[in-house]
Parts: sequence; structure tokens; C-alpha cells
Amino acid sequence: MIGILYHPSVLSRLMNGKGSFEKPAFYKEAARKAEEKVIFFSPLDINWQKGTVRGWNGIAAGKGRRADRLRVPLPSVIVNRMRTNRNYAKKMIQRLKGRGRIMFNEHNVVSKLKIHHILAANKKLLPHLPAADAVSSSSVKELLDQNACLFLKPSTSSVGNGIIRFRKINDDTVAEMNILGRTKLKKVSIDQIVRIVKQRKQGYLVQRGISLMKLDGNPVDFRVSVQKDGRGRWKYVGSVGKIAKKGSIVTNIHCGGRSRKAADLFSSWGWDGRKIERKIAKLGLRIAKTLDKELPHIADLGLDIALDEQQHPWLIEVNFRDLRITFRGAGEKEKWQATFENPIYYAAYLNKQLKQLKQREKEQEQEEKQKKEQMKEEKVKVKEQEKEQVKEKEKEKEKEKEEQQQRQQQEEEQRQQQEKELEERQQDEKEQKKEEKENQKKKKKEKKKKEKEKKKKNEKKKNEKKKKQEKEQRKKQKSEQRREQKPESEKTAELKVAAALLVNEA
Ligand SMILES: Nc1ncnc2c1ncn2[C@@H]1O[C@H](COP(=O)(O)OP(=O)(O)OP(=O)(O)O)[C@@H](O)[C@H]1O
Ligand SMILES: [Mg+2]
Repeated sequence: MIGILYHPSVLSRLMNGKGSFEKPAFYKEAARKAEEKVIFFSPLDINWQKGTVRGWNGIAAGKGRRADRLRVPLPSVIVNRMRTNRNYAKKMIQRLKGRGRIMFNEHNVVSKLKIHHILAANKKLLPHLPAADAVSSSSVKELLDQNACLFLKPSTSSVGNGIIRFRKINDDTVAEMNILGRTKLKKVSIDQIVRIVKQRKQGYLVQRGISLMKLDGNPVDFRVSVQKDGRGRWKYVGSVGKIAKKGSIVTNIHCGGRSRKAADLFSSWGWDGRKIERKIAKLGLRIAKTLDKELPHIADLGLDIALDEQQHPWLIEVNFRDLRITFRGAGEKEKWQATFENPIYYAAYLNKQLKQLKQREKEQEQEEKQKKEQMKEEKVKVKEQEKEQVKEKEKEKEKEKEEQQQRQQQEEEQRQQQEKELEERQQDEKEQKKEEKENQKKKKKEKKKKEKEKKKKNEKKKNEKKKKQEKEQRKKQKSEQRREQKPESEKTAELKVAAALLVNEA
């Protein structure tokens, strides 16, 4: 759904079949071609609480035309056709944007000086921008020294009203003021004109006056439409001439100017229309693209471009809410219709982009969800793996422990065995020693016994000897006794035998 936002008074004029610069039927036709729907509404039709809009699906003006009032959700893309210089309009736009709605042409009242500064930053545009400055005695003086003619203009839209042409005629400075198409001429000094301008509510700028091409002596400039198309790209739609009313310094239709096909004007000047249009188109697109980088969402510009005798194009001003009537007035129906269609095609393109974006967001959300789930699963897996690893480690530890215990047990057993062996050895040794001792004892005993026996033997021998000696002695005594009785010879013989016995014994 594409919304077309109007000021309440404009919408009611349309609904009452009164004339307007707008042509809702063109929007509707374009929407049908783009397979979209449009709803025409004003800020009063918005229900902020419900997030809906109660608008019209067409304009009932004209015979047999029917329009229905519908309540629909706030359209996702809104084409703004309302002047947005008021605070309430600015707030409403912010509110709509806050609800995710796209609105283009949101700022359509922008200071001319601001635009000049934005464009002057692009070197390629500089040769097409008449020098401009804020109005002051010094800036007017300086510009008048360099240029024969100046234009003093309200810095925001005036539809030609209040525009002053200021130039030197002989030694005087003359101001020609445009008041609703009528020109008032006055001799004024620089300081006077600055004072007059500063008294006015609107801020003024001063701009170098361009010597415009003329038709029948009347100044001519061109309304050039550049818009974004169904592919979101800037497109040159067309140019149409504006011819100032006789004696007027401005070409505005509101001030009596009339429109004419650009091609007619070019040929009336004997120019190569296609070549000059290419120049205009190139300049128009460059201006649009330069502004697009600096201003919030613009898509629909009506440029005022003037041409001088050298066929050089000059930018007079940029309109952010082209009323498109110049094309209608020149009978350029196709171009006029195109200026309504392009914004719808562009809105349809934005809608598609939004849908794609939403789809992509949805897909991304799903992808993220899947990723999260995968990550969750992986985490669980990793945890399980970790658990298993821990289990395995524990098992290994247990195994190691068991092995260690076994080893320790074995060692202990070995130790015990060794101890046992040692003990046994010691025991053996002890026993051996004991045995040895006993043996020694035994030996000693035996020795003693032997000695005793020997002693005994010896004693026995001794005793025997003694006994023998005693026996001998007794025998001797007996023999002596007998010798005493026997001759001496016998006694000697006996002594000899006794002595022999003694020698034997020794
Ligand atoms: N520097 C200039 N040199 C020659 N003519 C100029 C110059 N500036 C303005 N004009 C004439 O005055 C007309 C109106 O001027 P301009 O377009 O700047 O203001 P406007 O139309 O009143 O502003 P808006 O469109 O915002 O209401 C021009 O179309 C042109 O005919
Ligand atoms: Mg203008």
C-alpha cells in the first residue's frame, strides 16, 4: 500500500471536485501498473492508537467516478505532497518514521542559501551556480561591483512574490519589485534596499542576476523535473519553458507567466534542442545526486534552470515540491503524467525493498535461530565429549592407580620376600653360628674330655707307674732286705736289672 499525503484543505478540494495542481487519477493509474494500491489521506485521517489511516482509495471528482473511504493500516511508503515547514508537520513525519514508515519528499521547504552552499561544494556544479550570499550592505555592494544585475529573493518559497531585481542604471541603483506579477520600479540606494528587505519577515538572499533568454522580449527559464524511478535511480523526466508576463521580472506561473514546450523555445532560438536538453539533463541529475547525499530522502525535484545567450545553463533554484502544472500548461501531457507516475513507481520499488528487507530479516532471524540451535547442540556435544574424556581420564587414573597399587603390592611382596629371605638368611646364619658355637662347644668339650681322658690316662699311667715304682720300691726294698741276706754279687745283679728297667721306662 502506498499513501499519498495531502494537506487537509487540498484533500477536501480534491474530494469536492475542485481544481487542483494534483491529479490523483495519474497516481492511481501508476499504482495499478505497478500492482500496488494507493490511499489518499491527510494527517487528520491518521489514528495513531490503532496505527491506521482512514483515507480514500481514489478521488470521486468527475462524472461516474467513485471513491471509497477505507480504514487501512498506515501505509508502509508515503509520498508527501504536503508543505512541511510547519512544526506539526515535522513532528508528524518523525512519528511516521518512528513507526517504520518511509516517507519521501519529507523536507520540501529548504533555504535557498543552504542549497546553494551544498551545491557549491561540488566543483563541477560551480560554473552553473550564480554567486549568492545572505543579504547585507557589504554583500550587495560586492556583488553589484562584479555584476550588472542582482536578484534579491526570500530564502524560502515565495512563488515569485517579493523578488527584487536590483541593478545600476547610469549612476543610480534601481530596484524592480515583483508584487503578485506587477513590477514596481524604485530608485533606491544599496543601504535603502537592504533596509527594506531586512524589514520583511522572510530572510533574503542576494544572487547574481542571470541574463535569461527571452521570447518576445520576456525572460524565459525552464522547469526541469528529475525524479527517482522504479529502480530507485535518478531520472531526467523532462524540461518545460516558463515565459514571464510582459514587463515581469519573474517567470512564475503564479505571477502571470505561461508555459511552453522547451523544444519549441529551443527551435525558436535556432538551437540544437537535443544537445541543449542533454546539457540540462546532465546538470539536473548532477544537482539531484549532490543534494541526495546531504538531504533526508528526496526523490522528486523541480529545478528552475535558466539559459543565457551562450546556451550555458544556470541553476536559479531547486523546488522540493514541484506542482507539475508547468508541464500541463505546455500541453506536455506525457511528461506531466510521468511526474505523477515516477513517485509511485519509486514508492513501489521501496515497498519491494522493504518486503525483501523484511524477508531477509526473517531469513536472518531463522538463520540465527538455526545457528543458535546448532551452537547449543554443539555445546551439548562438546560437553558430552568432555564428560566422556573426563570419564576416560578417570578410568585411566583408576587403571594407573590399580597398576600403581599392583606395583606397590608387588614391591611390597618383593620387599617382604626379601625381608623374609634376609630373615631366613639371618636365621640361617644364626643357626649356623649356633651350630658353629655348639660345634666349638662340642669340640671344646671333646677336647676337654680328651684332655681329661688323657689326664686320666696320664694319671692312670702315673698311678700305674707310681704303683709300679711303689711295687718296684717294695720289690727293691724286699730285694735289699734279701741282699742283706744274699751275697754281694746277687745284689749287684739285681741293681743292674733295676737300672735297665729305669732306662726303658725313660
Ligand atoms: N538570479 C536570477 N537571475 C535571473 N532571474 C532570476 C534570478 N533569480 C530569480 N529569477 C527569476 O525569478 C523567478 C523566481 O525566482 P525563484 O525561482 O528563485 O524563486 P521562487 O520561484 O519565488 O521560489 P519558490 O519556487 O521557492 O516559490 C525565476 O523563475 C526567474 O524567472
Ligand atoms: Mg521558482
